[in-house]
Amino acid sequence: MATAEQTTAAAAAATPAAPLPRVPMVPIPPRGVDYRGKLVLAPMVRSGELPSRLLALHYGADLVWGPETVDHSLIGAARRVNPRTGMVEYTRQPSHSHSPANSAGVHESVIYRLDPARERGKLVFQLGTADPARAVAAARFVAPDVAGIDVNAGCPKPFSVLGGMGAALLQTPEKLAGILEALVKEIVPEFGIGISVKIRLLETAPETEALVRRLVRTGITGLTVHCRTTPMRPRERAIRGQLGMVAAVCREAGVACLMNGDVEGRDQADRLVAEFGVDGAMIATAAEKNPSCFRSAADGGMASWEDAVERYLRYAMEVENKISNTKFLLAQMIPGKAATYKEVHKCKSYVDFTRALGHEGMAEMARETDKVLGLGEFEVKPEPKPKNKQKNQQQQQQKGGQQQQKGGQQASKKRKHEGEERAEPGKKMAEAVEPTPAAAPASVAV
Ligand SMILES: Cc1cc2nc3c(=O)[nH]c(=O)nc-3n(C[C@H](O)[C@H](O)[C@H](O)COP(=O)(O)O)c2cc1C
Repeated sequence: MATAEQTTAAAAAATPAAPLPRVPMVPIPPRGVDYRGKLVLAPMVRSGELPSRLLALHYGADLVWGPETVDHSLIGAARRVNPRTGMVEYTRQPSHSHSPANSAGVHESVIYRLDPARERGKLVFQLGTADPARAVAAARFVAPDVAGIDVNAGCPKPFSVLGGMGAALLQTPEKLAGILEALVKEIVPEFGIGISVKIRLLETAPETEALVRRLVRTGITGLTVHCRTTPMRPRERAIRGQLGMVAAVCREAGVACLMNGDVEGRDQADRLVAEFGVDGAMIATAAEKNPSCFRSAADGGMASWEDAVERYLRYAMEVENKISNTKFLLAQMIPGKAATYKEVHKCKSYVDFTRALGHEGMAEMARETDKVLGLGEFEVKPEPKPKNKQKNQQQQQQKGGQQQQKGGQQASKKRKHEGEERAEPGKKMAEAVEPTPAAAPASVAV
């Protein structure tokens, strides 16, 4: 038999549009943000790096979530302000450079980059964590730079789940509540920002309701529900049957509730918010393709992909975005059928991008960016490792006599040839790389 709570929840789910009573809200800390009435950019590993967030804000996103970053990777990281761009960067040494023999000449890698001006009061930092103490330590490091800390309790990937993070936390609600309570206790008074959580649906409404009822008692200010269960693939349509219930439980506790899953734009979001009684909505994949989905029809509606791409490229250069990430995002934004799609795929520098996209007006900015990142004409190729064939020749040389002389000549001929290739940058284009080599991944794919 259903409990009184289940009955209330079922009624709320059945009549989600019914006017809901006003209740006291969990207070929003002085530097925090209220998620009510907001349409926000979802946390997205890879697709939610700084230029994407700036573009979403430009087109009217009210708040932006950064990509999930695992607590481990922040502990021991350093914070710096990039003197050229003014961006805040969290960096760390790549893991393979820890031995003194390896550390010489190895640059630290940027694991997170944010804009202290344009993202001020709008950036929510999402943590991947399975441990209250580590979550607090990591949150303390980033809290002065952000407007909120969100805990990922929905990532279904093995990396997260096997580490007890992401969707694994949905199965251990007391552990998840413990993490949120620790963050509320330590971070809210010290930094004046709010704590929130992003969950997925559980299999049945009573299970989801029990989870949400526990989470809203932790002191969080917001809860986002991704309307898919953990086993559901992104292609499967989001299910909204439990949404009215989740919204009602959050409202009763004074916690803002954002809906997520197949929200495609501002006008549709307004309708869904009214229909399900939630406080706001979050967009991921639609924004990955064209972040102008945050703009209402009344304000101009969707921009063309060409406009979005041009602006994206400018932001990417302004913040010195890693070229592989820029290329990935361009591939999401440019339709596969467009002639430029294949051209962009071949690009290895920012100058290449401006040529492929016909933005010659940005060529000088692109050249400056290439110079800083060591791309295109500024690329420094690593010393080639001796090939096996060469090694064998060297071994043959050690056998002495005439054979030694002959082998030596061949090797020196080959080295000369390789030297000539290196002396002509641009003749043979190698894979584009940033001078800061990638460390063990700081953020994980979700
Ligand atoms: C490329 C990509 C990366 C994502 N990374 C994260 C992440 O870091 N943290 C998270 O909670 N969800 C992540 N998600 C899930 C989204 O935030 C969102 O919940 C999901 O895509 C459903 O929203 P949509 O239907 O608007 O795409 C990611 C999704 C995509 C497509």
